[in-house]
Parts: sequence; C-alpha cells; structure tokens
Amino acid sequence: MNAAGASEFIVVANRLPVDLVVGEGGERSWKRSPGGLVTALEPMLAGRDAAWVGWPGVPDAEVPPFEQDGVSLHSVRLAADEVNQYYEGFSNATLWPLYHDVVAPPVFHRHWWHTYVRVNQRFAEAVAKVAAPGATVWVQDYQLQLVPEQLRALRPDLRIGFFLHIPFPPTELFMQLPWRSQIVRGLLGADLVGFHTPGGVRNFRWLAGRLAGDRVHGSTAGTGARPGEISYDGRSVRVGAFPISIDSAALDKLARSAPVQKRAADIRADLGNPKRVVLGVDRLDYTKGINLRLTAFHELLMDGRIDASDTVFVQLATPSRERVEHYKQMRDEIELSVGRINGEFSRVGHPAVHYLHQSLPRDELAAFFVAADVMLVTPLRDGMNLVAKEYVACKSDLTGALVLSEFAGAAGELGSSFLVNPHDLDGLKNTMYSALTMPEEEGRRRMRALRRQVLTHDVDRWARSFLAALGVPT
Ligand code: ADP
Ligand code: G6P
Repeated sequence: MNAAGASEFIVVANRLPVDLVVGEGGERSWKRSPGGLVTALEPMLAGRDAAWVGWPGVPDAEVPPFEQDGVSLHSVRLAADEVNQYYEGFSNATLWPLYHDVVAPPVFHRHWWHTYVRVNQRFAEAVAKVAAPGATVWVQDYQLQLVPEQLRALRPDLRIGFFLHIPFPPTELFMQLPWRSQIVRGLLGADLVGFHTPGGVRNFRWLAGRLAGDRVHGSTAGTGARPGEISYDGRSVRVGAFPISIDSAALDKLARSAPVQKRAADIRADLGNPKRVVLGVDRLDYTKGINLRLTAFHELLMDGRIDASDTVFVQLATPSRERVEHYKQMRDEIELSVGRINGEFSRVGHPAVHYLHQSLPRDELAAFFVAADVMLVTPLRDGMNLVAKEYVACKSDLTGALVLSEFAGAAGELGSSFLVNPHDLDGLKNTMYSALTMPEEEGRRRMRALRRQVLTHDVDRWARSFLAALGVPT
C-alpha cells in the first residue's frame, strides 16, 4: 500500500481467502475458504505488500477493509439473489460443468448471465478504487472472466493479468455458450491470460480468432514456457500455460514434523492398524469421480481381491456448493454408496469405508496424507488438482502410491504415478490393485521421481513465471 492508501499489487478473486462465519448471536469470525485457489495464492502473497478483493462467502455482508497476514482484504458485497444467480447459477451451474467437459449438463439462463455481468462490473469497480496508478492486478478464475475488459475501461493505466484455475474447454464445448463472444472479449482485456496447460492456450487462441476476429490482427503460438501473443485492438495480449502448484517445501516440513508423524501413527491405530490405508481427499464435487472410486473399491471387495479386515478406505470430503442441485444429488449418491459398502463389508467397530463430510485443519490433513498407503485422485476432469501434489509432498519416506486420473492437469507433470482413465472401471480396479500390491522398490522409485517434480516446481515458481510474463519485476 502506498502513502495514499492505494495498492500496487492486487489479487481479485470471487472469494476472499477467508470466509465470514456469523454465529447464532450475530458474532463474527473467519475461517479459511475452501478449494485449491486459496491454497495456492495464500503462500504466494506472504511477504508481498498486497491487497485482495473478494466476496466474504455469505450474502448481504457489509465488511470494512481489514488486514490479515499483511494483506489488506477488501470485501465485495453480494445480495442473496446475486449469490443465487451469479455464484450458484452462472458460475457453478453454467460455467463449471461446461468447462469440465459437460460431465453434468450446463444450465443456460439469461437472467443468470445478466447478473454475472453486473457482479463482474462491481468487482472491477472495487479494484479500480483500491489500485494505485500503474498498479498490477491479477484477476483469478472463471467467476470473473469479464473483469479484465471492464477494469481496462475504467483504468487503462493498470497492468492486468488473468489466470484460469479450471480447465479451458475444447472449442466445440465452449461454442455452446450463448455469451461466448462476450467472455472471450472479457478475457482479452488482460495483458496476459494464463491457463494450466498448452491445450487451454490452443483452444483460447482459436476461439479468439473465431469470436473476436474483427479486432484480432494475428497471433503467435509461443513455445515451451514462452507465452504466445494475440494482437487485439492495437494491444498485445500474451497467452501462456502456467501449471499451478503448492508450497511444497512448507508442506514437506509440516509432514516431517514430530506432531504430524505422531498423529499419522495415531490415525492408523484408530483405524485398527490395517495393512493398507486407502485415501481420498476432495471438495465434494461431481467432477472429482468420488463415486467411481467407491464403486471400484466395492467391486474389489466383492471380487475378494481385497479384504476389508486389512484394507480400509478413508474419504475426506469438504462440503461444497450445497445449494446447487447437481451437488445435492451427488452427495446423496455418494452417501448411499458408502452406506451400501459398509452394510455389506463392515464389522462392528471396523467400517470398510470411513467417510467424513468435513473440512479438516492443514496439519490434520497432512497427517492423513502421511498415514495413507494409496492415494486415489480420480477426477473426470480437473484443471490441476493440488491434492495429488500435496500427497507427494507429504511422503518424504518414499512410501505410498498415487493413483491419478489422466484427466487431471497434474497428470502432465506426475507421469510416475499410477495413471488411470477413471471411466474405465476395470482399468481403475486393476490400477488400484497394482498400487495396493506394488513392490517396495518400485514404489520408492516412483515416489522419488514424483517428489523431484513437486519439490522443484512449487507455487512460488508458478507465480514468478506468471508475473515475469506479465512484465512485473519479481
Ligand atoms: P479444487 O480446487 O477443485 O477444490 P484442488 O485439489 O486443486 O481442487 O484443491 C483442493 C484444496 O482443498 C487442497 O488444498 C486440499 O488440501 C483442500 N481440501 C480438500 N479436501 C479437504 C478437507 N476435507 N479438509 C481440508 N482441506 C481439504
Ligand atoms: C475451485 C475453483 C475456485 C473456488 C474453489 C472453491 O478451486 O477453481 O475458484 O474458489 O474451487 O469453490 P467455492 O465455490 O467454494 O469458492
């Protein structure tokens, strides 16, 4: 923040890094917001003189600016019907399923779109108020794709970056969107647009030519880590792939700590000291393939290839987007599956599946990662999936096996995991079985390679490469 109270570096995301919790008596407290975006950005901001503009997670909340860990937080107020139409509606029932390969059918409503435009404009105005002249603004994710263009119209002096944390879809799917041109033009308001993978970059370049062609005058592809460029409206918009990561060293350190190691041993003891602990850790989301892995586990038990007396499955699931219809249905289906497996295969005091619909503190989560012999990360589509990287960062003793979907962005970097197509149930069962019975030496070799990648490609490197491409001294 400069002397006039304006900020030189601003992150703008749908959510603030913390969620407001209002108690029954109206008392206020804050808890960490869910999801990978906050996991990645929090350590990146530590030590920077920065501001964060976002929604505090509850409707109609008036929150004056405040500071947390040196970052000044500026809250954007959303009314209840805006939460319904912009957040639950257009962001999470239109864009989220569309961008995740339509694994659930996207819903298109014109009034949701109008609210999305209006709320994006409000975020742009909030940023315009706190940004110092010439400041750098980093816009995050699918909820705010119009902000780059809206903000440029208000403040042409700013340097604007945009990063999409979820997959950018194949062009044929994106073309379904009735407001496809407006979204592409919204993103082209940035100086740099970043995706996780080169595939996202290719799709976006093609769509820019197709949907904003009258204002696009040529584009170059870029190579390796070098972003390409789109010449748009007399400006140059850079477009590149920046695979996001975690604060690997900090998590490695936490996982090695005596309290976490002790807690991991206690967790195994609480589970009855089974031979094998299988773990899933996800936001409760239909893209994560939780039911597929439960079905595979169930069939392995039924086939007699694994035995519930020595192999237990723990599924930790953070509650998420609970008022959106697809999410309600999926939760019911998952809980039905857990009940069915436990009904058939549990003994008193020894459930076959432990299911916690809860968000856990970071050190407790690290202890679960340390305790797990096999980690199941089986999304049908995922931008990156940080859980896969977190598991690897926690396995300093080189034990453990990672089963990873080919459809997670992380698969591009974590080729030494057990890669699997989660739609192929037999393939998933066989891969889980291979991971459960893998020879020790093979496991160590795989984990060593995975750790080399995760520990050298951390979130700091991600942020630096994005900001360098945006022309910000780092
Ligand atoms: P997404 O961003 O779609 O939620 P990611 O895997 O990229 O998926 O990030 C999820 C983040 O949420 C990770 O940092 C993970 O540790 C955290 N998380 C997932 N489940 C839980 C849980 N039950 N309790 C606490 N944190 C969780
Ligand atoms: C993913 C998205 C984020 C989002 C998070 C949690 O990581 O990319 O933008 O914040 O999920 O979802 P929620 O809807 O609770 O913000």
